[in-house]
Amino acid sequence: MTAKIAIIGGSGLDDFEAFESQTIVQATPYGEHASGVKQGCLNGVECVFLPRHGQQHEQAPHKVNYRANIHLLKQLGVHSIIAINVVGGISKKMAPKALVIPDQIIDYTHSREQTFFDGLSNNDPFIKDGRVEHIDFTYPYTPQLREQLIGFFVDNQIDTVNHGVYACTQGPRLESAAEIQRLKKDGCDIVGMTAMPEAALARELNIDYVSLCLVVNWGAGLTEEVLDIKDIMQTCAEGMSHIKQFLPALCERTHLSLA
Ligand code: HPA
Repeated sequence: MTAKIAIIGGSGLDDFEAFESQTIVQATPYGEHASGVKQGCLNGVECVFLPRHGQQHEQAPHKVNYRANIHLLKQLGVHSIIAINVVGGISKKMAPKALVIPDQIIDYTHSREQTFFDGLSNNDPFIKDGRVEHIDFTYPYTPQLREQLIGFFVDNQIDTVNHGVYACTQGPRLESAAEIQRLKKDGCDIVGMTAMPEAALARELNIDYVSLCLVVNWGAGLTEEVLDIKDIMQTCAEGMSHIKQFLPALCERTHLSLA
């Protein structure tokens, strides 16, 4: 069975009950995925579900083995990834509970294994001879797949914000108020910890990649109140249960557009 579409679940989406299949744990030249991925059918479409942090949320954002995750999806034949990310909102439209389909990224992370093209990948069938390449990353999210997503939400009358610059910070702590002001000056609209290097690794292996972000809090210092982790978890749980309702139909639509 070849699954063409993968969902990468983020915080609050570590499991997806719609998948009944066995978990697949498969070795890659970069190690194994934290807890394995699930393969199954959503609305008649073969899909893979990969919990980014592991099924028990065991890997913090800076510890996720992004290379193993993306490599495993490539091995399973995935062409298109719909990544789900939770984020903080920075610009006005990006209020808690909003769904955002970002179109740009600024990477503030460090010390993460961020490429397959490091000249060392000798045992990788997708990176022949450990070659070094420089990918084009002008548009980090695949434009055609973004259009499919946007079309789906328009047709289903689900409100989304259809642009946004995603600031990827190192974490796992949230930002200081001054850091959020700096991100704002840089032109960032939302802030999260997991878009990078995931998006770049998908591009390196020629897999289409889009992100659907759920805003779960305002960025630090943007409101009078101090951030409350309990509130964030609550918004996250509510938002993810909404996302789970429409994901099967979204996969079906994505699949039809690929066919
Ligand atoms: N900052 C970084 N990552 C996040 C945030 C935030 O405010 N909220 C959810 N993920």
